[in-house]
Order: sequence, then C-alpha cells, then structure tokens
Amino acid sequence: MGLFKNFVSQTRKPEGFFGKMMVNGMNNGHAKVADWGMSKLTTVEPEDILEVGCGGGRNAHELLLKYPDSKLTAIDYSEVSLEQTKAYNSEMISKGRCEVEQGDVSNLKYQNQYDLATAFETIYFWPGLEKCFAEVNKALKPGGKFMICNESDGTDKAGLQFENIIDGMKCHTVEEIEVALIKAGFSKVNTNHHETKPWIAVIAEK
Ligand SMILES: C[S@@+](CC[C@H](N)C(=O)[O-])C[C@H]1O[C@@H](n2cnc3c(N)ncnc32)[C@H](O)[C@@H]1O
Repeated sequence: MGLFKNFVSQTRKPEGFFGKMMVNGMNNGHAKVADWGMSKLTTVEPEDILEVGCGGGRNAHELLLKYPDSKLTAIDYSEVSLEQTKAYNSEMISKGRCEVEQGDVSNLKYQNQYDLATAFETIYFWPGLEKCFAEVNKALKPGGKFMICNESDGTDKAGLQFENIIDGMKCHTVEEIEVALIKAGFSKVNTNHHETKPWIAVIAEK
C-alpha cells in the first residue's frame, strides 16, 4: 500500500504510528464541521450522551462543554482512538463526567440509556447503515436524538475521491441516510445542509 493511501486509510480504524498521527490531525481537521453540526443541536438538553466513533476525543470534550450538566460515554473500536480520547478528556474523566469504552457500533450493549447520540465523520465506515442506526436507536431513550455530521453529502468531488482511495469507505447521500434512519426506527428526520459547503447534519428522533 502506498504511503498516502496507508495514511488516509487510518481514518477508518486508526492503528499504530500513522493512526496516532491521524487521530491528532482529525481533532483539528474536523473541528469546524463538528462545531457547525453541534450548532444545529438547538432543541436538546441531554443528560446522557453517547459519542460514537469518537476518534481523538475533541468532539466529546466540546459536547461536555456545551452541556455542562451532562455525562458522556465516548466509544470507538480503535484502541488508538480510545487512548487519545482518554488523554484529551482526562479532566472530564476524573470529574466523573466522561467514560471511554471500546465498542463497535454494529453491536452496542446499551439500551434506553441516552438522550443524545452523535456520530461525526464516522458513518462512512459503518458496516451497514440500517443495522448500525438500529443499534444507536436501541441505545437511545424514547424521544432521544441522533445527530450524524459529515463533511461529505455523498455528491462532492473530494468525498468521492477519498471513497476511491479508502477501502470500505462510502460517502452516503442525504437520501440514503434518511431512508436508513426511518427503516432503523427513527422518526422526524431533519437534515441541515451547509449554505456553501457539502456539510450535512442529520438529526433524527427515536
Ligand atoms: C474519520 S474518524 C472520525 C473521528 C471523530 N469522530 C472526528 O470527527 O474527528 C472515524 C472514527 O470512527 C471509528 N469507527 C469506524 N467504524 C466504527 C465502528 N464500526 N464502531 C466504532 N467506531 C468506528 C474509527 O475508529 C475512527 O476513530
């Protein structure tokens, strides 16, 4: 595998030296789209948050700052991502507000526990949207919200170029996401599209 392909493929499941570099880079690289997505969360005051595919942990930290009375569980299936998330959120962990757990979104152990679930820049890699969305749905309390935030809306050139380079990556269209959410048991799906960029924040209710 070429060096560039090896490096960008670390976004799927960060591992080893390149993986550590990638998770640090993602914290900065995804900050703007993640903050834009979080700004669309206007009607929730969650006590319990599940941050899925937490990567370097920066978005978990921002959610804890946005919701000062909340507690958050950050999960990822990559050990490198978990290590970085723990380091980034060490203060929140010691205050008892943040837990970091290894987990695969295709098989979650949580049931009726969370008011809000978030997925930033991660559903591209999930093995089957409907199945994984159903797992998130199961983890939410009735009325809980799920936000998906992506910088690709599945039609932009940059997203599709990465899709060609990274094995197993799929940039889903808004329609594909919305259909999978409804099939997985969500209702009231609301999609925000950035005015000038292909960024999307899809918010669904259980
Ligand atoms: C591109 S990174 C995004 C990280 C972070 N959310 C951000 O916005 O910077 C994708 C993350 O999703 C995780 N991930 C991908 N598939 C996953 C799965 N099936 N279960 C849990 N985590 C997964 C990867 O390990 C990686 O940390």
